[in-house]
Amino acid sequence: MRPVELRTARLVLDLPTLDDADLVTQYCQDPAFEQYLTTPWPYTRADAEEFLGTHVPEAWATGAELTWAVRDAEGGPLLGVISVRETQHELGFWMGEEHRGTGMMSEAATAVVEGAPGGGIRGAESVLWRAVEGNIASAKGARAAGFRRIQPDRPTVPTRDGGTLPAWYGVREATVDPRAYDSWIDILGADA
Ligand SMILES: CC(C)(COP(=O)(O)OP(=O)(O)OC[C@H]1O[C@@H](n2cnc3c(N)ncnc32)[C@H](O)[C@@H]1OP(=O)(O)O)[C@@H](O)C(=O)NCCC(=O)NCCS
Repeated sequence: MRPVELRTARLVLDLPTLDDADLVTQYCQDPAFEQYLTTPWPYTRADAEEFLGTHVPEAWATGAELTWAVRDAEGGPLLGVISVRETQHELGFWMGEEHRGTGMMSEAATAVVEGAPGGGIRGAESVLWRAVEGNIASAKGARAAGFRRIQPDRPTVPTRDGGTLPAWYGVREATVDPRAYDSWIDILGADA
């Protein structure tokens, strides 16, 4: 499949390329990535080059994973990355540390999940989000993007060494379930 560009009020979501390798290398040194993601650790420039030069274009071509750079202007620097995998239609995202907390990731996630069901992602009627238990920033991002928390039996996420950790799960259909916001109260409280 050919890469699809998405736009929101503030953002351009487009193809991350090798020109973004320096920034990806820089952002992926963040200890939060060691704790919450399966990106390589320690993270090298060669990892960024493999991700941008091989994984991203190949996964777009096969449809296995659609990955966007989050930018605040056409041709602007990469601020973060968001993707949806064909397997389980799972959303993944990260923002460079200095660009967090401005609602940009929830804005990007909303655009991606609303473009996915019945459209960009083959066979997707909903999108899955999951995160290591305790990843409050990610859960707030999922809540802000209209996900509803679900509690399957034994929810887990894979770790980079082939293990699993207990996880939080959420799901988002094309329209936001009216019960979605309140489904997070147990873990995020009732505040916005
Ligand atoms: C998860 C992540 C992408 C969120 O990015 P962000 O730019 O902060 O997201 P937004 O600005 O859209 O904020 C979404 C919500 O999270 C809240 N938030 C952001 N950082 C937070 C933090 N460190 N602790 C608690 N809440 C946080 C925001 O206030 C907002 O909440 P609100 O909707 O109640 O106002 C970012 O923290 C990150 O890259 N973390 C490391 C990688 C990671 O864990 N990725 C997710 C793996 S599942």
